[in-house]
Amino acid sequence: METIQVHDKVFKPYITENQIQQRIKELAENINRDYAEQTVIFIAILNGSFMFASDFFKHLTIKSEISFIKLASYKGLKSSGTVTTAIGLDVDLHNKHVVVLEDIIDTGKTLHHFIPQLEHQHPASLKIVTLLHKAEMTQYPVQIDYTGFVIPNKFVVGYGLDYDGQGRNYRDIYQLVE
Ligand code: XMP
Ligand code: MG
Repeated sequence: METIQVHDKVFKPYITENQIQQRIKELAENINRDYAEQTVIFIAILNGSFMFASDFFKHLTIKSEISFIKLASYKGLKSSGTVTTAIGLDVDLHNKHVVVLEDIIDTGKTLHHFIPQLEHQHPASLKIVTLLHKAEMTQYPVQIDYTGFVIPNKFVVGYGLDYDGQGRNYRDIYQLVE
């Protein structure tokens, strides 16, 4: 595999399509096991998690529903500090088992602000799955229940993740070359 260019930056191959798909299968198997007797409402956070949510959802064998919301806290390569809701939630979570699907948790700010909005609806349970976690950067408390890969503090693109809107289309995940 070769480096790619997105806007003005160069990125090198980091996590391959095979590694991503294998790990997603394992995550889904854990959910199938842990929620075997339940119906789960998955909430995927747009835009970044659209590929992850799609591939993950195809492995589920439990009764499941999925809905999408759109939150944004990023501008370019850095968290902007404010979290806005661009598309809201359209399902009632009262007494439901809810699992949030996120592409990447960095500072934790996005979910730290969003999770209380879900808890406000009194779900029966609420858990978080993230494909990627920049663990050393997380400063806002977030309870992450299932993690695909813990990664260092380097910007990544591909597999739904973007740099200023571009780079989402790649099947592999690429890391910024500094
Ligand atoms: P926080 O800091 O709120 O960030 O946990 C979560 C959101 O920030 C975006 N993010 C990234 N997007 N490459 C990206 O394409 C990255 O390396 C990266 N780090 C954080 C992402 O939208 C996530 O939902
Ligand atoms: Mg995101």
